[in-house]
Amino acid sequence: MDNEGIQPVQWQDNQLLLLDQRLLPEQTVYLHYSKSTEAADAITDMVVRGAPAIGVTAAYAMVLAAREAMALSANNWQQELTPFIDYLAKARPTAINLHWAIVRMQACIETLATNNDTALATLLDEAKAIHSEDIQANKTMGEFASALLPENCGVLTHCNAGALATGGYGTALGVIRSGVANGKITKVYADETRPWLQGARLTAWELLQDNIPVTLIADSAAAYLMQQGKIQWIVVGSDRIAANGDVANKIGTYSLAVAAKYHGIKFMVAAPTSTIDMDMPSGDGIPIESRPKDEVLAVMGHRVAAEGADSWNPVFDVTPASLVDAIVTEKGVVEQPTTDKILAMMQSGT
Ligand code: MRU
Repeated sequence: MDNEGIQPVQWQDNQLLLLDQRLLPEQTVYLHYSKSTEAADAITDMVVRGAPAIGVTAAYAMVLAAREAMALSANNWQQELTPFIDYLAKARPTAINLHWAIVRMQACIETLATNNDTALATLLDEAKAIHSEDIQANKTMGEFASALLPENCGVLTHCNAGALATGGYGTALGVIRSGVANGKITKVYADETRPWLQGARLTAWELLQDNIPVTLIADSAAAYLMQQGKIQWIVVGSDRIAANGDVANKIGTYSLAVAAKYHGIKFMVAAPTSTIDMDMPSGDGIPIESRPKDEVLAVMGHRVAAEGADSWNPVFDVTPASLVDAIVTEKGVVEQPTTDKILAMMQSGT
């Protein structure tokens, strides 16, 4: 396990530890989970968020569930897991990494021997492998992406696609970390990202922990920032990439991509291959999570909207592949993505 930097998900003393991202940046509090359903609820409740971090959490939650199932039925524990898997799978609908991690843990379960102690240890090893592979993938992406960036590059990122949203290091923020380290990125802007303010609270905090200066903008300032020539690339993560390169990501990503095209600014999506859903032909079929109306009517729990106002709160949108200049994964870079190019990348060796 790579122990560098911020670790939003940890396994310690047979428990799952999650950094409560709802409290950042004011408080750094780890919540401890030994019950599988509580770990699944932590995903729904945004204690942990960001597609790859959700996947890593789901893998550890499966270990907790297997332990509970073994206590219930030593010989039939695999079957006992089914209701929990159904529950976990619904924790958040858009992030495909959740489904990907469940499938990988299920494949591991199918190979297990009958000795339950050994089986549990093997499952935990699989969850730890999912975790450390995610960190490594992010570092590889950072290196690949740097080659695309010009010197003296200004970038804008949206939401939080950093260490907090992954096993560690980050996807879009991994690209930014690498780009700053090798001197290519000289200016970083972050959107506030209403309604949860992942940009203002999480991305700004995370970059400042690494001494990377960051300038926050209101979401509505992005097109003007582009018109002023202050950025050359937009770099974001993703919750699910369809086989044709359509990209689901935090609400507002699509507006950024449209404005980027108009202003001749490049648009990059950094995501591990665990975020690519080859069973989803295009973005049209990606389920878009809707969250409670109060998240829009209030700011951090404080009601600001006029009494009686309604709200609409889709929390992701889909950016068509035609607006994406590059998808960067740990297996390589796909420029101007198409189904054929993505398939070739997925089938290539690492
Ligand atoms: O609602 P969130 O905070 O889970 O949304 C997260 C995002 O939209 C991220 O950009 C995405 O999951 C990629 S994280 C590496």
